Amino acid sequence: MTKPYYITTPIYYVNAKPHIGTAYTSVAADTLARFMRLDGREVLFVTGTDEHGQKVEATAKKLGLEPQEYTDQIAREFEKLGALFGLTYDDFVRTTQARHKKTACALWQKLVDAGQIYEDTYKGWYSIRDEAFYRDEDLVEGKAPTGAEVTWVEEPSFFFRLSNWRDKLIAFYEKNPEAVRPYYRYNEVMSFLKGEVHDLCVSRTSFKWGVPVPGHEEHVMYVWVDALPNYLTVLGYPDDLEGYNKFWPHAHHIIGKDILRFHAVYWPAMLMAAGLEPPQQIFAHGWWTREGQKISKSLGNVIDPFEIVEQYGSDQIRYFLLREVKFGRDADFSKEALERRINSDLANDYGNLAQRVLSFVFKHCHGKLPQKGVLTQDDEALLEVARTTPERMRTAADHNDLQGMCEEVWKIISHANRYVDAQAPWALRKTDPQRMETVLYVLADCLRHIGVLSQAIVPKAAENLLNILDIPQETRTLRALQDPLESHNGSGQVQSPDPLFPRVA
Ligand code: MSP
Repeated sequence: MTKPYYITTPIYYVNAKPHIGTAYTSVAADTLARFMRLDGREVLFVTGTDEHGQKVEATAKKLGLEPQEYTDQIAREFEKLGALFGLTYDDFVRTTQARHKKTACALWQKLVDAGQIYEDTYKGWYSIRDEAFYRDEDLVEGKAPTGAEVTWVEEPSFFFRLSNWRDKLIAFYEKNPEAVRPYYRYNEVMSFLKGEVHDLCVSRTSFKWGVPVPGHEEHVMYVWVDALPNYLTVLGYPDDLEGYNKFWPHAHHIIGKDILRFHAVYWPAMLMAAGLEPPQQIFAHGWWTREGQKISKSLGNVIDPFEIVEQYGSDQIRYFLLREVKFGRDADFSKEALERRINSDLANDYGNLAQRVLSFVFKHCHGKLPQKGVLTQDDEALLEVARTTPERMRTAADHNDLQGMCEEVWKIISHANRYVDAQAPWALRKTDPQRMETVLYVLADCLRHIGVLSQAIVPKAAENLLNILDIPQETRTLRALQDPLESHNGSGQVQSPDPLFPRVA
């Protein structure tokens, strides 16, 4: 029995349309979800929108819209982003849904019942942009450490006894170092916990757009206390414990580094305080800059995912985001780097291999799958690279190493390209047609491996490739790669190929 796999993206604020940062988290999570499915695991992949809070209320007001009307519009943009990148999420959660309010209130009530919430007055700074509370000593030149504006707030509030959970969190993370990755984010969380940890303000009274606190309707929950339980909402918690029991022990949260503390400190503390388990793993990725500059609305350098996909194609953008940087590190988005990747890795390496092999098979094997003869050492060496790639990709996926997953597939591609040059099937056609067939068979089997494995990375091109090879849907899996190619080529035919990746100028 394989383990279930539960993977989430953050739920996105609807105060802005999708941009490259939000697309990044989703594409990364989608790649892992797709790979785990190919590997036979039962996957639950969830994304959604974070629709409450002061920031969203203020943005709606500026536009002269009711918050709900406004959030409905932007939530649709995020759903369109899903179609744009072929995201295979199983559920889309919105914090304004009744099912979510129910889960958020149930968790709140558990905290109240456990004596973990008390009423007091909040006096301190608040940043609407960060939706975060700050103390005097956190400020840097009168601003939040993130550079966001802060305002002074004094209001009656509920507090969560976060300080009670500091030692238990430290003990938990000492026992489970894999629970926060990469290791440098783990260290960051530990050093935060080893400092002074204060109770957390968890309700607001100065605006209305939120989930009312059960029994105290003049308070709305602080937006993060409303947002984090979304990860339980989709499991049907607290009504459907079956979903919870099955998936919660395998929860992987993919987030950006800016929201680490909310996920790796507040969220597990809330869960522990409610008598629930912390998530299995939180992985925080880095941030993208553009041509070396921070991406921001005020600099006017925001990258619109709809525009760049229109210009370059969705597989191309997916590949660039996954391949360009080791997942976890910061990266830079530049037109030159993107076009270089498209032309060299996609058009020259992947596309060209498929094109030259398949058009040759189509022409000189009458569109039939080539027959295997006696295999030479060179054939075996290439096939060995292909056959051992799934295991190495699995290891990379288990470590959230998206770049490594790409590199593994490209190792087959570059070995196969060298092999075509060395074997020269075009010359064999005249001198040894039988040997030519064997060479093409080996290459076709490599293409099948490349197609199956790259479904997680460049799903559209992979689908085209597998269609050309006539590999039936149900055998496009890691398990089926263990069987010989000929056992999975339905009709014995190979279609005439169209180029998979056009070059860009
Ligand atoms: N609503 C909260 C998350 C709540 S989860 C319970 C939120 N939303 S967000 O829309 O502001 O950000 C969502 C994600 O986008 C974060 O993981 C953030 O790191 C990511 N990014 C936003 N800009 C980014 C870049 N420039 N580069 C990479 N990722 C970035 O936070």
